[in-house]
Parts: sequence; structure tokens; C-alpha cells
Amino acid sequence: MINTYKIAPAMTYEVFETKEAAAKKLAAEVAELIRSRAAEGKGVVLGLATGATPLPFYAELIRLHKEEGLSFKNVTTFNLDEYTGLPHDHVESYWYFMHTNLFNHIDIPAENINLPCGTLAPEEIPAHCAAYEQKIKDCGGLDLQILGIGRTGHIGFNEPGSDDTTITRQVHLDDLTKTDAAPAFGGFENVPSTAITMGVATIMGAKKVRLMAWGEKKASIVNKAINGPVTIDVAASYLQNHADAKYFLDTPAAAEL
Ligand code: PGA
Repeated sequence: MINTYKIAPAMTYEVFETKEAAAKKLAAEVAELIRSRAAEGKGVVLGLATGATPLPFYAELIRLHKEEGLSFKNVTTFNLDEYTGLPHDHVESYWYFMHTNLFNHIDIPAENINLPCGTLAPEEIPAHCAAYEQKIKDCGGLDLQILGIGRTGHIGFNEPGSDDTTITRQVHLDDLTKTDAAPAFGGFENVPSTAITMGVATIMGAKKVRLMAWGEKKASIVNKAINGPVTIDVAASYLQNHADAKYFLDTPAAAEL
């Protein structure tokens, strides 16, 4: 750790020399939450994210499970988003990502795992989104939401134009988001145009929000989200109004702060 700053009534950021060091500290916080709830005989509801950013965080959770006995039996998860049109076994689906990079390596019960479904008929999507929101509420709400940030400022797939009343719904992906995803899909034209995502209001409803960002490509949007105005043009800027939001940054991602 290099520094901790207080930047808004309850929003902070911390800068680390490496993403691995940042991920380790965040994983320790999550592990403590899981263990303290387990000691009380209670569960934890985690909101989870995909993309390159959370990979070192998931690697550390797996290590804590395998080497330090951290159990996920009392954990329920809700992922932020899923591409529409991709079945579970598609290597770019978030269902596949989460199972490959986390769920297959820990002891979370399969029935505790929730992701939006990417393969519904269009007419089934609104009811699915409403049921996803309701299930989060029925589980007691999100205790801690993990986030990355896209270069559009998106959290989940809440692209510019997503205000703080949005909930789980189908959205169109921004061209910049599709450009960033293009290499994984073998070309821009292969990237799905829509996704199902939790909304800004869903994310803001989490008791704690923890956002990770690494690398110089994120420096500009991280600065806008933290120091810029709270605006519909940058979904992450709404986190300035959250009661317990924290950014975990590596040095390059913090370069413009
Ligand atoms: P990344 O994506 O982790 O692959 O950079 C972040 C995001 O789009 O939220």
C-alpha cells in the first residue's frame, strides 16, 4: 500500500504497487466478512464481476480456500451481467468465466450461484430481470459488490446514459466496450450487441462496494469517476454518493488522480 485517501463523505481509494497486492487486501476483507458471518451461523451475499480485472482477486480467494480453509458454503453470489445470446458453454460467456476462474475451485453450493441468463427469448427477458432483482432482495440484499470499471465508466454494463434509478435490464453495449471485447471474440462484429446487467440502483443498494482498476488505460476514467461530477455520462461517478464505496487501484490506474 502507498496511500489511503478520503475523497467524499464515505468514498475512499487506496493505491497499491501491484494489482496482486491490491487483490490480496480486498480478498482478505471478503474472507473476514465470510468467516465472521459463518461464526454467527449466517450467510453472505456477494455481487461479483467478470473481466480481466478481478482475476487476481479470484486467484487469491481460491488460494485462501485451498491453503487456508476458507469455506464458501455460506456464500450466495449474484453476478453483475451476462451477454445475451451466449450459452453457458461459450468460452466468452460470463457463466463460463465464473465457473472456470472461481466457482469450480471453491466449495460454494451450485444452488447459491446466480447469473443473469443469456439465452432467453426476447419476450422472457423482462420477467427474468425482475425475478433477478427480487431474488437479490429475498436474499437480504447484496452485502458486498465487487466491480471493475470499463473505459466508458460503466459498472456492470451500465453504459453512459444509465442513471441511478436503473435496475436489472437488457442494455445495448457501447462501441468502446465492444472494441475492448473484440480481441476475445475474434473481431468487433462477433461481440454481442446487448447484455443483461444489474442497474446502477441495484449496485448502489449493496451495503459495501469495492471497485478494482489496474493499468494506465483506466487512469483517465478512474479520475473522472472519482474527481469528476456525478453524472449520467459516467455510471461509476454515482459511487461518490455511496455510503461505503472504496477503489482498489494500482499505481498506473491512479496516475491521473
Ligand atoms: P476489464 O473490464 O476488467 O476486462 O478491464 C472491466 C469492465 O468492463 O468492467
